[in-house]
Amino acid sequence: MPDTQRKILVTSALPYANGPIHIGHLVEYIQTDIWVRFQKQRGHSCHYICADDAHGTPIMLRAQQEGITPEQLISDTWTQHNADFAGFNVGFDNFYSTHSDETREYAELIYNRLNERGHIHSKTITQAYDPVKQMFLPDRFIKGECPKCGAADQYGDNCEVCSATYSPTDLINPVSAVSGEKPIEKDSEHYFFKLTDFEAMLKEWTRSGHLQDQVANKLSEWFETGLQDWDISRDAPYFGFEIPNAPGKYFYVWLDAPVGYMGSFKNLCDRSELDFDDYWAKDSSAELYHFIGKDIMYFHALFWPAMLTGAGFRTPTAIFAHGFLTVNGEKMSKSRGTFIKARTYLDHLNPEYLRYYFAAKLSNRVEDIDLNFEDFCQRVNTDLVNKVVNIASRCSGFISKRFDGKLADACSEPALFADFISASDEIADLYETREYSKAMRAISALADKANQYIDEKQPWVLAKQEGSDAELHAACSVGINLFYLIAAYLKPVVPEMVAKAEAFLNIDTMAWPTDWQPLCAHRINKFKPLLTRVDNDKLAALVEASKQNLEKTPTSAPAKTTDKAKTAEPALIDFEDFAKIDLRVARIEKAEHIEQADKLLRLTLSLGDQQRQVLAGIKSAYTPEQLEGRLTVIVANLKPRKMRFGVSEGMVLAAGPGGKEIWLLSPDDGATPGMKIK
Ligand code: 2FM
Ligand code: ZN
Repeated sequence: MPDTQRKILVTSALPYANGPIHIGHLVEYIQTDIWVRFQKQRGHSCHYICADDAHGTPIMLRAQQEGITPEQLISDTWTQHNADFAGFNVGFDNFYSTHSDETREYAELIYNRLNERGHIHSKTITQAYDPVKQMFLPDRFIKGECPKCGAADQYGDNCEVCSATYSPTDLINPVSAVSGEKPIEKDSEHYFFKLTDFEAMLKEWTRSGHLQDQVANKLSEWFETGLQDWDISRDAPYFGFEIPNAPGKYFYVWLDAPVGYMGSFKNLCDRSELDFDDYWAKDSSAELYHFIGKDIMYFHALFWPAMLTGAGFRTPTAIFAHGFLTVNGEKMSKSRGTFIKARTYLDHLNPEYLRYYFAAKLSNRVEDIDLNFEDFCQRVNTDLVNKVVNIASRCSGFISKRFDGKLADACSEPALFADFISASDEIADLYETREYSKAMRAISALADKANQYIDEKQPWVLAKQEGSDAELHAACSVGINLFYLIAAYLKPVVPEMVAKAEAFLNIDTMAWPTDWQPLCAHRINKFKPLLTRVDNDKLAALVEASKQNLEKTPTSAPAKTTDKAKTAEPALIDFEDFAKIDLRVARIEKAEHIEQADKLLRLTLSLGDQQRQVLAGIKSAYTPEQLEGRLTVIVANLKPRKMRFGVSEGMVLAAGPGGKEIWLLSPDDGATPGMKIK
């Protein structure tokens, strides 16, 4: 145990319970896990907690879409997430769910205290409402044409084509992404947290060393723009916790998400000796750290400290924000096979490669990091396998064959060993400050030194020389002892590899090297490869598999546009999917205006032997007169869709960005209605 044992509680952001963990997420979990393992190895009392973020509209709708209850959905997702984290050796002390009694208890407690102290007020606001689904629509569930560039199918409040930002009410021809219906406006009473009551406290807190400089600067901009009170309620139907004494009103998912940190910890306390108040009471001396992505700073650096203060709890010691992941210099992409799910990765490659690679790239700044496949192979193969693992394999054969597996009685290079020990403080400092790439460089420099020593001693030459046994024994024992220290320094990053090293060295689990003595007259075990080189074929197979498991983004749960790693991309379809589409030539027999419809025309189509009614959104480009008598192409086997103005029995194909620029596909003369298009 160190002289002063610290009490540390660490969290990573809670993943949403409606999608798989992917390598973009893993940057954070691996970054946090390395830090936690380091603290534990140093002998501190450190607990790492997390949970699934289980509430909110997307989860409710996703469950509906899958025909299961939200409880079933979040339970299935929890099982997958838990297995994925275990696969990457992310060692939570508790991985729980926000849909828990403990989280409900603290969410209610915090809310009640804020309410009693006058920090909650209510007011009636007007919001988009889906009259078919009978629910209010979050911004992300309204789509329409961009008011600036006219691009179709833009979600919420920003355009992915021209990057304009706007209010969802500015969208042209807005429709609900849930039902396809035009949203109406509806009033409802909402509850607000008065963030403005905490302005002075937050200004002080955000400038007192709890945040990285880049984050503190960003917050200064927000202070200048002025803080806004925060809408913390949502109307039924909603999957979440009902607000006390407010039937039909639910806590917004972002209110109970950070409270999930408390809920998960409380659950751990109830199963152990830990005391909740030791960590969360106002006068707690424990340290509390939140690792997060840069997109959720606002919630963690403003709302959360304000909520905690208002409800009489302690505030975090620090918040550590990181950047996003790009792959080969670009946004993760399903079609390029770089949108890699944790599970798919684990099916092909060793998790420790990725842990080491991320460590080799991470700093304590809020910068994006890039996973470059070539660099990935090179760093793992050169720095880890060739340099580190090789030290052990170069020396161990002679020890086992010539010296019965026993190291020399004394260390012949005490100064060199002491030199490796003296790197301990610097490396510890780099881990502590989350400068992992610098830590990996420092460790790599030690590995270079160890290899240089072995190169100079040339044990393979000594082995062939008469009378050089003692020298051979001494040199190989030194090599093994240098490896021993390097392995200890790498333990937070590659725990599985180091566990194998511990077995090989025949030692107990390693603490952080301090005043260690070399292993002398000590028997080691036969060397088995600790880690093999990255197999290029397996990497290629991983990319291929990631292309294959393209998952369509469900229309009811569009990806968050603020999160690069989760940004949606058009999914590719297989030929079999394409072959299912029955394209036919149709004659537009009749085209009519529909009263009250802004963009739809009612078309009566002839397919030769049958007639169809199709409601087509082409009013902005064509008058009924321009259409009657023309041939066009339709999807003839689309399920009939009930729309506000009637049933539509197919889809007319057209191209163009929208507005006046929509062109119907018109087959050349000679086509006849009903003709199949091949
Ligand atoms: O952005 C997200 O993925 C959220 N689920 C993170 C929540 S972190 C914490 F506040 F719970
Ligand atoms: Zn646009």
